[in-house]
Amino acid sequence: MKTLILNGSPRENGDTIALINKLIQSLQGECRIVNAYRCNISPCVDCRFCWKTDGCAINDEMQEIYSYIQDCDNIIIASPIYFSELTGKLLDVGSRLQRYFCASYFRGETPITKSKKGAVILVGGGDGRVEKAYETACTLLHHMDCYNIFDVVYSHNTNVVPAIQDQQVLEEIDQIAMFFNTEK
Ligand SMILES: Cc1cc2nc3c(=O)[nH]c(=O)nc-3n(C[C@H](O)[C@H](O)[C@H](O)COP(=O)(O)O)c2cc1C
Repeated sequence: MKTLILNGSPRENGDTIALINKLIQSLQGECRIVNAYRCNISPCVDCRFCWKTDGCAINDEMQEIYSYIQDCDNIIIASPIYFSELTGKLLDVGSRLQRYFCASYFRGETPITKSKKGAVILVGGGDGRVEKAYETACTLLHHMDCYNIFDVVYSHNTNVVPAIQDQQVLEEIDQIAMFFNTEK
């Protein structure tokens, strides 16, 4: 089993990575984590190469991630909430999924042949608003042919209680692991 994790947090020891580390302790198989703030992945510049041609013209680390997306069984989007959204750097990485939309919209292709399970893990300091970020995360997952998505897991009070001490979220993280570890 292969799991891709897109981490939208800049903090090396922050809430998001603490929950990711907890999850991967219980996940079978291998994981690949992409840190949106440290990876070598540029945003889409709408060059329109992918309107006509399979692939993406930008030659950076995303090329490896495209291969992993094809291969993997599960995809997790994990991010802090910034202004009710996913972080900007994570959206930069997500913009590179436009090649999949273009393949199906302009050329009628099915760019990803293996459907996947998905999950969304969000952390927020305290305003409790998760809807916009969750909707965006689901849009990104859908671009990667990921429609079987676990209910959002959200630690919403990290200004007061670090996510790793949020007991309910820790239980839900275990449930994500069970969801992924179980055969389709
Ligand atoms: C620029 C910025 C914007 C933020 N916007 C929100 C927000 O809209 N809602 C919220 O609940 N928390 C917001 N926060 C708080 C973070 O989501 C929170 O501190 C989170 O736990 C950080 O996660 P991390 O440690 O994984 O980076 C914001 C923080 C920053 C730096």
